[in-house]
Amino acid sequence: MNERDSEAVASLLRARGYALVEDEAQADIVLLNTCSVRDLAEQKAMGKAAHLNKRKRRNPRFIVGILGCMAQNRGADLLDRLPDLDLVVGTQKFHRVPDHLDNLVASLRGQGPRPATLIDLDAEAGSQNEIRGHVSTESEPQVSAYISIMQGCNMHCTFCIVPKTRGEERSRPLDDIVREAEELVAHGTREITLLGQIVTSYGRREFPMVGGKTPFVQLLERLHALPQLHRLRFTSPHPGGFKADLIAAHRDLPKLGEYAHLPLQSGSDRILRAMNRPYTRDSYRRLIDQLRAAQPKIWLSTDIIVGFPGETDEDFAATRDLFREIGFEMAYLFKYSTRTGTPAAEMPDQVPAEIAEARHRELMAILEKRSLARHQELVGTTEEVLAQEPARRPAGRLMGRTRGYRKVFFDAPAHRLGELLPLRITRATVAALEGELV
Ligand code: 5AD
Repeated sequence: MNERDSEAVASLLRARGYALVEDEAQADIVLLNTCSVRDLAEQKAMGKAAHLNKRKRRNPRFIVGILGCMAQNRGADLLDRLPDLDLVVGTQKFHRVPDHLDNLVASLRGQGPRPATLIDLDAEAGSQNEIRGHVSTESEPQVSAYISIMQGCNMHCTFCIVPKTRGEERSRPLDDIVREAEELVAHGTREITLLGQIVTSYGRREFPMVGGKTPFVQLLERLHALPQLHRLRFTSPHPGGFKADLIAAHRDLPKLGEYAHLPLQSGSDRILRAMNRPYTRDSYRRLIDQLRAAQPKIWLSTDIIVGFPGETDEDFAATRDLFREIGFEMAYLFKYSTRTGTPAAEMPDQVPAEIAEARHRELMAILEKRSLARHQELVGTTEEVLAQEPARRPAGRLMGRTRGYRKVFFDAPAHRLGELLPLRITRATVAALEGELV
């Protein structure tokens, strides 16, 4: 999400005559786009911002800004630790950055005193429609691109800061999204990932059901019909949003591949209730059964939080057993991080860090075993891989993804980027595969 927001800001700035540089040391302006979902992310951004603040002291014409969730979450309090910030811009104001910068640049060129920090954090109706510019359509094509389809979240999970940082759910019109996708595809994009805090809620208040299908599934069908698009993905969904139409889409829309991400968070009904997650371990398990019935080869991933307040050994055992039973090939495993202002931050029985650490390690071990086993089953078989981008290391190799969304590294000339290639899988590790062109 942040990568996408940053790209949209970069695209607006380019249109205004600013240029992106390769190396931060060359930049006259540095904008940090920030995440607040866990404390670690905020600490990292703070460290980085403090460093830039020092550079600003040495060179008053250098411009530093903080954008996004941490700006929204902390607002003017950021100035206590970062007094030299020029710009603080919230999550509904990304598109205002070019105007703000133009003003700052103009006043820094003048002889007057240093302008006060510009702080822009208000909600803005229609801001979801402003995240649409792509750097890729202006320069080199991007095989895989993101489209932001909505902003905000109304689910109010008790651990989560997002309702505070991103506001209420607001969706973009379906036709606008389809137009953006068409333009990307015309410029060489072959995989689109739809983004939203809660994509399965897309348009549920704005747009009607059609033929028993939710706006989200209507959107999937429209995009699936684009002839040159090879793959269509989305993140993040909510298990509660996986209704019959979306399950059927995994059977009927081959461009979705054999992959689904379904955040479980916990396998204990007691903890799920405390998290305000409106499903149970049984209903989640039934959902997985339905998905596997619709798409027997499906690869599954999830998000889990260990150490939520009040999580006992029995609660964790319930999570661990369900996690093992379902057999996720991929998972984002998190230790609970207290977010000030969320209901969970006020709950009793916060779990000690060592216990959360040990639970995290236990899940990690289960995950690694399962991922490796599933990867090894692929060795010797031929997989359809979308050649996505040059591999970072070693140079000359390409990176692609299977239909199950697993990374594959292979040798092929760069002009094959964007193609669906048959690759024989030759080697498997926990994290990735290697293959060769058939
Ligand atoms: N602590 C730890 N993990 C969190 N997540 C969201 N909020 C928190 C928190 N306070 C995780 C959830 C979510 C993912 C994006 O981040 O698992 O699905």
